[in-house]
Amino acid sequence: MTAERRHAQFEALLLGLKTNRGFDFTGYKRSTLVRRVAKRMAALHVDTYEAYEDYLEAHPEEFAPLFDTMLINVTAFFRDPAVWTFLAQEIIPRVVAGRTAADPVRVCCVGCASGEEAYSVAMLFSEALGEKSFRKLVKIYATDVDGDALTRARRATYDHKAVEAVPVPLREKYFEAAGSNAFTVRGDLRRVVIFGRHDLVQDAPISRLDLLVCRNTLMYFTAETQPRILARFHFALKDGGFLVLGKSEMLLNQGDLFTPVDMKQRVFAKTARTNLRNRMVLLAPKDDNEVANDTGQQVRMREMAFDLVALPQFLVDADGRLALASGPARQLFGIAPSQIGKPLQDLEVSYRPIELRSVIQQAKAESAPVTVREVKHVDVDGTIRYFDVEVTPLNENGNRALGVSVSFTDVTQSRELQQALRHTNEELETANEELQSMNEELETTNEELQSTNEELETTNEELQATNEELETMNEELQATNEELETTNDQLQVRTEESKRTDVLLNAVLNTLRVGVALVNARHQVLAWSAMAAELWGLRAEEAQGQNIFQLEIGLPLDKVKTGMRACLAGEKNPEGIVVKAVNRRGRKISCRVTCKAFAISADERGVILLMEEMP
Ligand SMILES: C[S@@+](CC[C@H](N)C(=O)[O-])C[C@H]1O[C@@H](n2cnc3c(N)ncnc32)[C@H](O)[C@@H]1O
Repeated sequence: MTAERRHAQFEALLLGLKTNRGFDFTGYKRSTLVRRVAKRMAALHVDTYEAYEDYLEAHPEEFAPLFDTMLINVTAFFRDPAVWTFLAQEIIPRVVAGRTAADPVRVCCVGCASGEEAYSVAMLFSEALGEKSFRKLVKIYATDVDGDALTRARRATYDHKAVEAVPVPLREKYFEAAGSNAFTVRGDLRRVVIFGRHDLVQDAPISRLDLLVCRNTLMYFTAETQPRILARFHFALKDGGFLVLGKSEMLLNQGDLFTPVDMKQRVFAKTARTNLRNRMVLLAPKDDNEVANDTGQQVRMREMAFDLVALPQFLVDADGRLALASGPARQLFGIAPSQIGKPLQDLEVSYRPIELRSVIQQAKAESAPVTVREVKHVDVDGTIRYFDVEVTPLNENGNRALGVSVSFTDVTQSRELQQALRHTNEELETANEELQSMNEELETTNEELQSTNEELETTNEELQATNEELETMNEELQATNEELETTNDQLQVRTEESKRTDVLLNAVLNTLRVGVALVNARHQVLAWSAMAAELWGLRAEEAQGQNIFQLEIGLPLDKVKTGMRACLAGEKNPEGIVVKAVNRRGRKISCRVTCKAFAISADERGVILLMEEMP
């Protein structure tokens, strides 16, 4: 996709956010926005802005994390400590001086994020005024466009790490513990700070402020939007009120609205515009000097002296005749000695290089010098020069008009210098603006990095917690394993014992000359001796575990059943019964079956069946 298309898609996305969600990001610097949106897109594995817009439409819950990512909330208590020292020592004492309840101090922290900055301001004012007067005399408004950040600000609870930036005496005075790792700003300080949602581009500003703190927020806006915001700040502040910006923020082309109080700390004072108009320069009146009557010699001396004047200058008398011309004037305009005494209007100098008659009339009418600046003059050799032409009325005793003096000051060089200076200034301004924008870019990137770092730290902490959990589980498993090993050992011993018992039992059973079957209360065969196998033609493996009454061995078991039940019920029948049977091998036998009860366990009984073939 081309860069233009991608750019157009991004602008469309911003426009969508503005029309659908009422959030106008169009005044923000694109570089930051692009990076922040890319972060969300990467998290969702979305490739194009168009696809991301579709995603937003289908998943409105994505707006919250998007705004959260776009509005970088990096902040801290007493961030950039030098500024706070300056405010405490130089600005706050000036703001609070002579305040009464009828004229309270109004402060606003714009772009306050989670409130650390506003509470820092509150602590300094409280220190300057004392807690009681502070509560009576100061109102602090703290605004941001991010609702979630404002909720955190109102909660005023910060973890141990955040509160570490507060100087210890203030920490002990204005915070109270909230659990093991958190601190809350004390209620009486908290109540002075009023938090509210406010968009500094769109909403009407809070007015009549003595101090406006807007740090590290302006730099997120484009160079076109910044002056608009600054004009609002100018309106919001009282005359002489103070504006505090972030350490890399400047007043872009707004030098006439604010004057620096301390450029390094970025503290400015509002310039009252009306005062500018009042700055008038008053000219002192000249003394009235007696003019002595000229003698012929004096006239000649004055003419000679006039000749020596380095300036091209000539005099025109009250009748409009050329009265005197200095040497340089004669040379510059080719005035011949014969032209002295001629009406000025007949001479070329009256209209070249400038139409003089109207200027002379104006000077006479106003009785004041009139200057026409940078009049172009082309010398006979073609050299171009510029003159400031000044026409000064010569009034005797302040009223009788004797004539006018016309002088020409060569400003060619200063004009060139001025142009060069203007050019250099423009270059400097551009370089300055570029530097400023780079500075802001650096700072915003820095804040982004800080925010990413905080996220990484949280992830790290989560990982550490998961790791610890895994470690605990591992130890638990190890303990269980050890327990199982012990149980296993015990089981092995028991198995050995059981095997031995089995061998003994089988040895006993198999040496008996009668068939023996051990049966439990559910009639399952537990043991089947070798003699029983021999007698009925059924191997022990076939009999064990089976219900004895379902064994097809030719023994009329229903007769045996009654005996077994009686036996299980506790009756004694030592004689047993004699039954006739045909075993599996077809051999007819007569067999005595005797039952004897025995205890398998504490609550289970079984029966021993003794089966003895009768001769
Ligand atoms: C980097 S933080 C600065 C916090 C604090 N002033 C400081 O310097 O520590 C920038 C804040 O500006 C807020 N912000 C961004 N655009 C805004 C707007 N249009 N109106 C008000 N606040 C805005 C953001 O939500 C964020 O909380």
